[in-house]
Amino acid sequence: MRMSLRFILPLLLVLGAIAWSGAPLVGSLIERWFRADVEMRSELVFNSIRDTVVELATAPGDRKAQRRIDELFKTIAQDERLLAVGLCSPDGKLTNQSPAWPKRLACPKVTPAPHAFVVEAIETGPILVATFSLAANDSLSPRLVILHDLKFIERRSSSAEGYLAAALGLLALSAATVTVLVARITLQGWVRAVKQGLTPPAADGANDQPVPPEVAPLISNIRKILRDMDAPRGLGEAIKVDWGPESLRTLLRSELPNAEILVVSNREPYIHNDDDGQIALQRPASGLVTALEPIMRACGGTWVAHGSGSADRLTVDENDHIQVPPEAPTYTLRRIWLSEEEQDGYYFGLANEGLWPLCHIAFVRPVFRSSDWEHYVAVNRKFADAVVAECKTTNPTVLIQDYHFALLPAMIREKLPDATIITFWHIPWPNPEVFSICPWKEELLSGLLGSSILGFHTQFHCLNFLESVDRFLECHIDRERSNVRAGNATTLVRPYPISIEWPPLALAGQPPVPECRKRILERYGLKPSVRLAVGVERFDYTKGIADRFRAVGSLLERHPEWIERFTLVQVAAPTRSRLEAYRDTQVEAQNQADAINNRFGTDNWKPIILVPTHHEPDEVFTLFRAADICLVSSLHDGMNLVAKEFVAARDDEDGVLILSTFAGASRELHEALIVNPYDIQAMGEALADGLSMPAEQRRDRMRLMREIVGEHNIYFWAGRMLLDASRIRKRSNLERQIAIATTPGKPRQP
Ligand code: G6P
Repeated sequence: MRMSLRFILPLLLVLGAIAWSGAPLVGSLIERWFRADVEMRSELVFNSIRDTVVELATAPGDRKAQRRIDELFKTIAQDERLLAVGLCSPDGKLTNQSPAWPKRLACPKVTPAPHAFVVEAIETGPILVATFSLAANDSLSPRLVILHDLKFIERRSSSAEGYLAAALGLLALSAATVTVLVARITLQGWVRAVKQGLTPPAADGANDQPVPPEVAPLISNIRKILRDMDAPRGLGEAIKVDWGPESLRTLLRSELPNAEILVVSNREPYIHNDDDGQIALQRPASGLVTALEPIMRACGGTWVAHGSGSADRLTVDENDHIQVPPEAPTYTLRRIWLSEEEQDGYYFGLANEGLWPLCHIAFVRPVFRSSDWEHYVAVNRKFADAVVAECKTTNPTVLIQDYHFALLPAMIREKLPDATIITFWHIPWPNPEVFSICPWKEELLSGLLGSSILGFHTQFHCLNFLESVDRFLECHIDRERSNVRAGNATTLVRPYPISIEWPPLALAGQPPVPECRKRILERYGLKPSVRLAVGVERFDYTKGIADRFRAVGSLLERHPEWIERFTLVQVAAPTRSRLEAYRDTQVEAQNQADAINNRFGTDNWKPIILVPTHHEPDEVFTLFRAADICLVSSLHDGMNLVAKEFVAARDDEDGVLILSTFAGASRELHEALIVNPYDIQAMGEALADGLSMPAEQRRDRMRLMREIVGEHNIYFWAGRMLLDASRIRKRSNLERQIAIATTPGKPRQP
């Protein structure tokens, strides 16, 4: 309607102006036409009666002739437009006239030769006085005067003006209507063409139609703008920023102003346990928590997680909230309560007996139970409801963590369509053959595609995911831009190698390296001369703990000079112990350690010290600083942050890292001694190499690794994802604006 008025009003104005200025002109034209007509009629009348009048007028004294003239004049004057007819003598006297001759009108003074037409105004209005000389070329002959009423001309010209204005008005209206119709049809065509031009081609080529040439330049301009916004920022560009808490806060303020941040994970960052009637605080052994916690400390927001501690319920408020970190709160932890059955089905069952072995190639068979799946769906729904309830805005930025929540992105998207959902998969993604054994593969993929961004540690895992989508879902994959389009939603699939805080908080109170070494050697009763290797993990079968013990055996067998001169201290936090595979792992590791210790140990020395208890970050860092070697022998690992923490702990630039090639960290830490954990002998040799590596080489390697971890720290990880999220937001705002601007009749948003 508004668009139609935009066309009609100007057209009406223009045509109104034409009518206003042109109507008088038309009026005077019409007047002139009618006057010429009247003059012609006068001549006709004159010609038709001239002979009779000449004949009768030549006998002025003849009364009969005079009466006949009067009658003739009376008859002629009956014509509705003839007012009167009169005869004037050569000396200007009115000798005969029809009855309606105006009383005050005398004979015209002009001498007609042969005739004259003059307009006179009398009381009743304008008249035309047509005077004819009865004898041509004789100005002294009597004159016949015919009076015409001109009022009808005035009447006709003014109604002609009226008709003209109405006709122009009608014309304006029809022209405007036609213009609006044509404009609408053309615009709709353009909009269709622009939309089609911007829609990525369907896999089956269904929407593969040529773009009309008139909109092609517009489409290519819009495409260019969107491409520029999409262009992944190269690492080079990103590392120019010195990434830390402050730069992350600045980035949030500038790129995602007023963004509400929510993190969702299964594992909570702070666990409160009941320890003999006292409430004890525990920081869980979880790479995910290690990575995310500094970000929440920097940015604030709400972290939604399972309240798994035995004293967790005692420490929350009525909204199940607790402000953390306890020593200086900066964000809110919202705890979700799960029943035993829910934990069994969702966490131990589907997540850890199904998805964990499915995604890690460690040759542990995944178990899929329908009852576990039902709990998994229900718990994902429970977390989705909690996230929606916690949100204060309609477009929050939600950071979903890990394989416990594959369905959560789509569930949140359903309730908060404008949310920016960033999902990070902290573990590997298997190839499509392996993934195909999961009975709920389509549901898991569709759930994850509710994300705006889906992150993995490595490009390899991204490719595996895209291949799985390609194999099992109907959607469009843009490999060049690394995104998946399902319906109207696009998910960007990118590698974001996770990292740690730099410098780590746990490093702050650490004593110097020699002091750390002294404490650890004392704690485990080791001689000052012993060379120390450490391993720090959860007791998980993916970590290859028993394999590294075998490698110690191989070292001692092939290099007996290290007997009594080398010890591996293995710290391992029991984890998921309700599951048989985990209990078996612990038993196997313990047996392996015992076997090596029995074979090589002496009365005063054990090559392997296994400490199967949870250690807080401070203790772990002291251990790292005390060590000559850190041994990370994961059979398969998304990233492995222990490797990066070891590097971060060594501000003395010493220490050797032995790292599995199957851990994501090996893609970044090239200066580690990279090993295949399945090759026990090679791993034993790597231990020997590490123990005999010259100090200078150790320093050079450690420096390079510290550089990369320092630059690509956890703020860099979060910053890159948030930058991509902000680009996506800007892009969808732009698309929304284009849609509004090109949708006819749709009201503009304020
Ligand atoms: C891995 C997973 C995390 C998990 C952590 C500890 O790092 O990716 O999601 O938190 O292991 O496992 P847990 O089951 O104890 O939380």
